[in-house]
Amino acid sequence: MSQLFSPVRLGAYDLPNRVVMAPMTRSRSPGGAPNALNAEYYAQRAGAGLIVTEGTSPAPEGMGYPWIPGLYAPEHVAGWRLVADAVHARGGRVFVQLMHTGRVAHESLIGGRPPVAPSDLPLPGEMFTGTGMAPYSQPRALTAEEIPGVIATYGRAATLAAEAGLDGVEVHGANGYLPSQFLAPNVNTRSDAWGGSIEKRARFLLEATDAAVAAIGPGRVGVRLSPGGTFNDIQDPDAAGTLAHVATELAKRNLAYLHVMDTNPGWDVAGVARRHYPGTLILAGGYDRARAEADLAAGRADLIGFGTPFIANPDLPERLRRDAPLATPDKTTFYGGDARGYTDYPTLAA
Ligand SMILES: Cc1cc2nc3c(=O)[nH]c(=O)nc-3n(C[C@H](O)[C@H](O)[C@H](O)COP(=O)(O)O)c2cc1C
Repeated sequence: MSQLFSPVRLGAYDLPNRVVMAPMTRSRSPGGAPNALNAEYYAQRAGAGLIVTEGTSPAPEGMGYPWIPGLYAPEHVAGWRLVADAVHARGGRVFVQLMHTGRVAHESLIGGRPPVAPSDLPLPGEMFTGTGMAPYSQPRALTAEEIPGVIATYGRAATLAAEAGLDGVEVHGANGYLPSQFLAPNVNTRSDAWGGSIEKRARFLLEATDAAVAAIGPGRVGVRLSPGGTFNDIQDPDAAGTLAHVATELAKRNLAYLHVMDTNPGWDVAGVARRHYPGTLILAGGYDRARAEADLAAGRADLIGFGTPFIANPDLPERLRRDAPLATPDKTTFYGGDARGYTDYPTLAA
């Protein structure tokens, strides 16, 4: 008996299957508003029980990568309406992932001003700015007075998501972006109410989540975490303790789901998440059909997120259902560009 293709309740929604399209930045929204090509891409993948879109900034300061979408201006709402309508026309459901890049940014992409972060510690290394490679820009530490304003952008973006007809939002608390920067003791060296103890480091993520919940209700809000992940130079010597605290706090909020990326840090991420989060749990990271079915059958997760496999297989759920072979994506077209490597992957021959 397939678990992947059994229905499931997720917050305010009934989903026909447990295959989640994991959020993936594709950098194909020049100007920040989703366009017709983006809408076609998501519509092709509407067979997923739930689509979580690419990371989308709730504020101009969070647009740290080239050609990513935003959700804070009227043209963004119009663009996201194209996506929502196209996915709904194919019978799907779509949550937009709210990603404020924080210090993972180049200032040329955010109005020439320094990126904002919990502390003024730059991210080592270089990034693609749209024209070439450059070091990540020197960030400035947010003042305690301005943090509530940044948190409020999550609430506004959630309101705009609903206005665009999107089904909900996922707060991106993973992978070293702004809320994850606050969680990490090596990036957040503050000694005020927003740094220090785990309770204080978690405050930004929890209040951003609360802002989204206040705007559109808990059944339309999910949160993503990457416990133990080291992407974007995150170091947390007590990542399991951080997960336990954050999951426990999130569990009080009756959210649509918690989405946990398991980056294999050497401890049982899924087990800790399950123990501290009795609600709907999505696991993601390196899944194939067999492992997905096994984890669902064992009760380790309620839904499974698939990232890379969705790039080259727009009809991934159907292929999983039939146990059909999967196409391999072209990594050179992951970020930026046009329809090539984006909307031109074929579905299975009927
Ligand atoms: C091209 C690409 C872009 C991604 N962008 C995001 C993103 O915007 N937000 C996010 O939370 N994760 C992002 N991820 C991570 C995926 O959501 C997923 O967790 C990861 O690829 C592991 O799952 P997989 O093995 O099924 O690909 C991205 C991954 C890829 C390959």
